[in-house]
Amino acid sequence: MTAANLTARRAGPLRGVVRAPGDKSISHRALILGALASGLTEIEGLLEGDDVKRTAAAMAAFGAGVERLGEGKWRVEGRGGFSEAADVIDCGNAGTGVRLIMGAAAGFDMAATFTGDASLRGRPMNRVLKPLGEMGASWICRQGGRLPLTLRGGNLRRIAYTLPEPSAQVKSAVLLAGLHADGGAEVIEPEATRDHTERMLRGFGAEIEVREAGAGRHIVLPGGQTLRGTRIHVPGDPSSAAFPLVAALVTPGSEVTVQGMLLNPLRIGLLETLGDMGADISVTNVRDEGGETVADVTARHSELEGVEVPPERAPSMIDEYPILAVAAAFASGKTTMRGIGEMRVKESDRIALMAAGLAACGIGVEEEPEALTVVGAKRGNHLVAGGAGVTTHGDHRIAMSHLILGMAAEEPVTVDEPGMIATSFPGFVQMMRGLGAEIGEDLPATV
Ligand code: S3P
Repeated sequence: MTAANLTARRAGPLRGVVRAPGDKSISHRALILGALASGLTEIEGLLEGDDVKRTAAAMAAFGAGVERLGEGKWRVEGRGGFSEAADVIDCGNAGTGVRLIMGAAAGFDMAATFTGDASLRGRPMNRVLKPLGEMGASWICRQGGRLPLTLRGGNLRRIAYTLPEPSAQVKSAVLLAGLHADGGAEVIEPEATRDHTERMLRGFGAEIEVREAGAGRHIVLPGGQTLRGTRIHVPGDPSSAAFPLVAALVTPGSEVTVQGMLLNPLRIGLLETLGDMGADISVTNVRDEGGETVADVTARHSELEGVEVPPERAPSMIDEYPILAVAAAFASGKTTMRGIGEMRVKESDRIALMAAGLAACGIGVEEEPEALTVVGAKRGNHLVAGGAGVTTHGDHRIAMSHLILGMAAEEPVTVDEPGMIATSFPGFVQMMRGLGAEIGEDLPATV
């Protein structure tokens, strides 16, 4: 391990009121739609994580005026479309960034070359290239549809595309390309995925029809539309809020409130699952902010019980399974998560890394191609052992999940490459310390 490892060890209860960082999905979309629109878009609460900063830089490279006015306050001056960038677009670690930007860029008669870090260069891009190709875009890429790749767009035709996997990134890429396709685009999703692109397109003045029919949701975007700049308030990210909330649930005596958390019905699968497990969670001050529901969410230490997570819930909590697996480790009984194969193509193979990390911390796990079972350690006085050094493969959610585990386990837990946490949650360590957590640098894995 490198000198930059972080170690979390058991401390007192976690207590306090915090604000989750801006939602990553909404932050990417705000910048991209702002750049595609004509006129000014003012954004408040933008997530200033590395992933989103890469998208901001990409929008500037494609000709938009992008300016940071203060903490989380950004202004985008859209020019009604993209112009050819002078250099390669490097999206860093961001799958959402690169897939959505490729969709948007495909609408224009230009070439653009995309790359990313080692993790992103290993992730499948075919899922986006396939529909973009059917619309008329072309590309040259590494074997298996991997980055770096050069995409050539323009003169797109309409597509009616049924998503082969439940992916909001693919849906969004097709809709963004459809903005500049002759006849627009239609996406059919057999399973509903996060709908921020649809909501935000409306906010930018686009006409978009969503109807439930037959085998799923049909999202129809008519062609020939122009977007007008707008104001966006980015709510707190439920995928980030999940970490302090689960930390409170598993640490005796804790009570933590996360203010202003997004409660979009397609993002709250984790809250539902924790509720099924018997978590003491209350939701107050429910309000509407800019077309999305937000609320203050309080979690108190709870005796959790293992559950079977319904597979159809997966799209609404796909990024939350790593931290759910940690909650499950502190529960009594087994928790089974099925239908989660998509986890294997995230920033890392998250099923494999959670299984390895939990096993190293003394937890019983069973890994299947599309499932993970965690045997809760709580039997009488038997607790989660911890005492491991975890290799995160540069995955921010693997790092944060194991640090939360270390905060309540008997022995400390160390993670490598903690710098990657800043891709989605730049103030994570400081926030957790403020709540009472003990997280140190360079401490040995066991004492
Ligand atoms: C996202 C969609 C999900 C999610 C990712 C963000 C989005 O990916 O895992 O972190 O903003 O559209 P998929 O669409 O690949 O499931």
